[in-house]
Amino acid sequence: MYYERMIEKYKELKNKDIVRILAIETSCDETSVAIIENGRTILSNIVSSQIEIHKRFGGVVPEIASRNHILAISNVYLQALKEANLTEKDIDAIAVTYGAGLVGALLVGINFAKALAFSLDIPLIAVNHIKGHIAGNYLTYKTLTPPFVCLMVSGGHTAILKIEDYNNQKMIGTTVDDAVGEAFDKVARILGLSYPGGPNIDSISKTGKANVKFLTHIPMQGTMNFSFSGIKTSVINYVNNAKQRKQQINVADICASFQNEVIEQLVEKTIKACKHENSNKLVVAGGVSANSKLKSELQKECLKNNIKVYFPELKLCTDNAAMIGSAAYYMLKEGIGLADLALTAKATIPLS
Ligand code: KG4
Ligand code: ZN
Repeated sequence: MYYERMIEKYKELKNKDIVRILAIETSCDETSVAIIENGRTILSNIVSSQIEIHKRFGGVVPEIASRNHILAISNVYLQALKEANLTEKDIDAIAVTYGAGLVGALLVGINFAKALAFSLDIPLIAVNHIKGHIAGNYLTYKTLTPPFVCLMVSGGHTAILKIEDYNNQKMIGTTVDDAVGEAFDKVARILGLSYPGGPNIDSISKTGKANVKFLTHIPMQGTMNFSFSGIKTSVINYVNNAKQRKQQINVADICASFQNEVIEQLVEKTIKACKHENSNKLVVAGGVSANSKLKSELQKECLKNNIKVYFPELKLCTDNAAMIGSAAYYMLKEGIGLADLALTAKATIPLS
């Protein structure tokens, strides 16, 4: 039986000196395959993005994403082996994102991973996408180790976590409504900017002045939770009112104002959490960690408060399989996450 054999193989891999994991990520609109050695070295990391395909719809269309993953995955896999200069025989285990994400998209990666693991007779490791984003930092900073506080800012999640060790975390704060990336994307859309909105707002903000006030105070004051739907609605109302009055809007100023207020909220709560947890180490993860203003403001505040802050290398901020391979290595080391061939996709997974 495949799974029974894998239980033994998984145990043996724990003590192997060099472990190479081939990781697969298809949770949203990036088809990615990577090969990672001992959790910290990227041998290859191929990312095929569907952004151009989804742009004309203003966001990711799940069914179109699934179909394009099917078209791309074989070639991305072959390219990952080629770039690492390895053959299948050099791979010790397969890792795959099983959630959170778009179910149809995840299933493409999961089925490809299952077929590979079964045919190569090697273990299959089921990885939580969010755990992967955190691990993006282990690839960027080879000596970074837990514990630390993590600000998780992606298109689907916004939370502050205490990462106790590689596989254990507790939630300190979370958004009560929209994720921050989602708010960036929705505000971009109302301003007529193309998908994905976050990078566009980031660059347009550089030419604008933060001269519009959308909120009177930081939401969820006195807590370490976030809220972004209020500011999003405030921007939408501002734009609609201007349209009704046939007034011109200054997109760059709106972007800069929105971005400033969102980042003020993120920074204030994150610093508060670091103090509360008595932590002088902060790790930022998820797609929004690519935001230049978030980076400069957090760096400034962390310096003032004697906190060392880590951001993933730019290409590891957004979705990629390398981060999944790194997270899988630390699961393997602890003997957790071994999946059988009944593994299926999960749209959501609790953060802790
Ligand atoms: O982590 P990610 O690639 O996918 C999810 O797991 O959700 O994050 C994607 C999100 C999108 O909402 C995108 O607009 C946002 O990250 N994003 C940014 C920037 N780059 C990507 N948001 C603000 N500024 C950026 N530079
Ligand atoms: Zn992601």
